[in-house]
Amino acid sequence: MKLVIVGSGYVGLVTGACFAEFGYKTICVDTDEKRISNLNLGKCPFYEPGMDDLLLKHLNNTKLLSFSSSLKESMIDADIVFITVGTPSRRLEDDADLSYVWKVAEQISLNIKKYCLVVTKSTVPVGTTKHVKKIIEKKVIKENFDVVSNPEFLREGSAINDFIRPDRVVIGTENKKSENMMRELYRPLYLRETPLVSTSIETSEIIKYASNSFLATKVAFINEIADLCEAVGANVQDVSKAMGIDQRIGSKFLNAGPGYGGSCFPKDVKAFSSTAKKYNINLSIVNAVHQSNQERINNIATKIINNTNSNATLGLLGLSFKPNTDDIRESTSIKLALLLKNNGYTIKCYDPEAMENAKKEFSSFAYCETAIDACNKTDAIIIATEWNEFRALNFETIGKFVNDKKIFDLRNIYNGNELEKIGYKYYGTGK
Ligand code: UDX
Repeated sequence: MKLVIVGSGYVGLVTGACFAEFGYKTICVDTDEKRISNLNLGKCPFYEPGMDDLLLKHLNNTKLLSFSSSLKESMIDADIVFITVGTPSRRLEDDADLSYVWKVAEQISLNIKKYCLVVTKSTVPVGTTKHVKKIIEKKVIKENFDVVSNPEFLREGSAINDFIRPDRVVIGTENKKSENMMRELYRPLYLRETPLVSTSIETSEIIKYASNSFLATKVAFINEIADLCEAVGANVQDVSKAMGIDQRIGSKFLNAGPGYGGSCFPKDVKAFSSTAKKYNINLSIVNAVHQSNQERINNIATKIINNTNSNATLGLLGLSFKPNTDDIRESTSIKLALLLKNNGYTIKCYDPEAMENAKKEFSSFAYCETAIDACNKTDAIIIATEWNEFRALNFETIGKFVNDKKIFDLRNIYNGNELEKIGYKYYGTGK
C-alpha cells in the first residue's frame, strides 16, 4: 500500500514516520518548501522523543519515508491519502477553522487518477468528512474514491508509542470496501490485539471530541476538588489516589495542576460545544469545563500574588504545556507568567526544550541557562511543568542563593514536609 500524508505538522509527521515503521511506503506532503527541504535532511521541526531517530531511519535506511511539496507527484499510485492539516480555533470564535481541510480536499480531488481512500485524521467536527466527500465528488466519479474518518489519539511527548501501541483504533467508514482497506492498513497492530472499532463516519468524528472533552472534564473536576481540599486542609493527591482505585473511575487524568493546556484540549472542548450548539444541543458540562479551566489560571495567579510581594522576582520552572515537548501553545505556565508580569513581577524562567519557542513570542521574561540559574536570587520558585529534571533539584543548595525560600509546586512533584524541614514555605496544589 502506498500512503500519502497531506500536512507535515505534528500529527502528519508522527503518522507518516509510524506508518513507515509499519513498513509502508509513505510520502509526507506540505506546501511549506523550507519545511520539506529540512525534513529531507532529517530535521524535524519540533521536539518529540524518538522522532529524530525514526525520521532518519526511514528517510536514509529503509527509504520508506519521503517528503515532497508536490501533491500531484505524490498522489500518483496513492492507495490512501490522509488529511492531517491543522484545524485551529477561528479567530474570536470557538469553532474549528476548516479552511485548510477544504483546500486540501479540493487539491486531492484534482489529483485522484485511480481508486483511493481519503481519510480525515485531523480533529474535525462531525460532518466534516462527509463535506470532504462532497468537495471531491465535484471532480471525481463515485467509483474512484471513498472517504473515511480515522481520528488520532496522540499525546505530545509519547506520540510514537501512542501510535504504535494504541489503546484502540477508530475507523469510521461508509462501506465494507473502505473498512477492509483500513483494517488491512492497521494489520501490524493485530499482533498486539489492539481493538479496532468500526463505526459510521459521524460516530468516529464524535468519538474523538467526546474522548478529549471527557479527559478535560476529569482534569477540570480534580482541579476544583483541589481548591476544596486547600480550603478544608485535605490532600487532593490522596483523594485522586483513592478515587482512581475504583475501576469505574480510573486513576489517569486525575492529577491536579494549573489547568489543562496544549494544542488540543482547549480548542477541542470549545469546538465540541460550538458544533453541538449548531444542532441545538447544549453540552452544558463541556461548557462548564471550559469555564472552569479559564478561571483556574487566574486563581493560581491570585494565590501567588497573595503570598508574595508585588515587586518580587519569580523563578519559573517549565514553559511547555506539559513535559517532553517544546510546545507552548495554550501553555498554562506562559499564561501564568504573563499574568504575573502584568502585576509587576519579574520572571526568570527555564525549560529544557521550550525556550526557543518561548523566546520567539515573549521577550519580557529573563531566560536562564539552567533550572538553578532561574532560581538564583528569586523571592519564590514556581514549578509549572513536571519535567523529570525538576523532580530532584537540590533545594538545600538552591536555598543558599534565593532571597526567600518559597515554592509554589503547581504539579505536586515534591513532598512539602521535606521542603518545610529545610526552611521553605511550601505551597502545593490542593494540599
Ligand atoms: C491530548 C490527548 O490526550 C490526545 O489523546 C489527543 O489526541 C490530543 O490531546 P496532549 O494535548 O498531548 O494530548 O496532552 P495530554 O497529556 O492529554 O494533557 C493535556 C493537558 O492536561 C496538559 O496541559 C496536562 O498538563 C493536563 N493534565 C493532564 C493535567 O493537568 N492533569 C492530568 O492528570 C492530566
